[in-house]
Amino acid sequence: MKKRLFTGIQSSGTLHIGNYFGALKPFLEIAGDYDSMLMVADYHALTSLKDPEAMRANIINVVKDYLAVGVNPADVVIFKQSDVSAHTELAWIFDCLVTVPFLQQAHAYKDKIAKGLEANAGLFTYPMLMAADILLYDTDVVPVGADQKQHVEYAREAAAKFNNSYGETFKEPKEIIMESIATIPGTDGKKMSKSYGNTIPLFGTKDEIAKAVMGIVTDSTGDRPEHVHAIHKLFQADGDLLPLYEEHKGKYKHLKEALIEDIERMVAPMREVRADITDADVKTVLEEGALRARAQADAKMQDVREKIGVRI
Ligand code: ADP
Ligand code: TRP
Repeated sequence: MKKRLFTGIQSSGTLHIGNYFGALKPFLEIAGDYDSMLMVADYHALTSLKDPEAMRANIINVVKDYLAVGVNPADVVIFKQSDVSAHTELAWIFDCLVTVPFLQQAHAYKDKIAKGLEANAGLFTYPMLMAADILLYDTDVVPVGADQKQHVEYAREAAAKFNNSYGETFKEPKEIIMESIATIPGTDGKKMSKSYGNTIPLFGTKDEIAKAVMGIVTDSTGDRPEHVHAIHKLFQADGDLLPLYEEHKGKYKHLKEALIEDIERMVAPMREVRADITDADVKTVLEEGALRARAQADAKMQDVREKIGVRI
């Protein structure tokens, strides 16, 4: 029996190669070792996204992205949170077990408020919805970025609180921190991030990718354009790059063109796959995923309702 892996994704617009190497590729690499579930966290997104058109588009796009990079819905259960009502139901039960001061300690909440996000009650209780996501499926491992580590701790805490009050019901999950791999630098050498405007798009056209690569900031001091090389290393082993960078010392344009070709070689097939995935395909995947998720979540909720005494 494989162990259960569960993770949630909040679609956050157009993916860049930092997202690919930092999140999607590592997910692909471990998903097969586990009985894996991938959930689109649309109700979590609702804490900050109030535009229905954007919500719909984001859900569809994020599923297309994951399918295009090679997540196979026959192996990985792909579903969306709002399709399985047990998530919000269990979140409520957890809300009634944890205290306000406990939730007030959440870093992610404090960070979001500091950034000026509205302090709505959903944002505040966000960790308990995430705990419900994870705990409904007897999850063993949760691959997340370092920023989500505390939320997995909160899930463990919720499980322990429930188990202490009502008897052994939930498994305590462990996080797998995906940030152990290096931070992918952007076109200015800082962390690639959509908020810094230094990204190379993952599913961009060749022209868009070329434009981003040509915009990589190069220093004029050394022979090797470090920012180009740092990104290039993701696409070819460093040793293989050495002769190229030796031969074309100081010829930044040539090296950038070589990088464009290497990115294109990896990205073009995924871009083609993505273009062929229709909205209807996404709906089918999500419907089938929801059926599989619901079967397990509903069974768990039967037990939970029984234990808390609302089933008479
Ligand atoms: P952004 O910084 O562009 O807003 P997100 O915060 O939406 O990206 O990140 C989504 C996922 O991609 C996270 O798991 C994050 O760890 C990963 N990721 C984002 N940027 C990078 C990067 N430059 N290097 C490695 N991983 C990254
Ligand atoms: N909060 C996570 C993020 O912002 C997304 C998420 C929601 C999640 N539910 C989850 C991640 C459950 C792991 C497990 O990235």
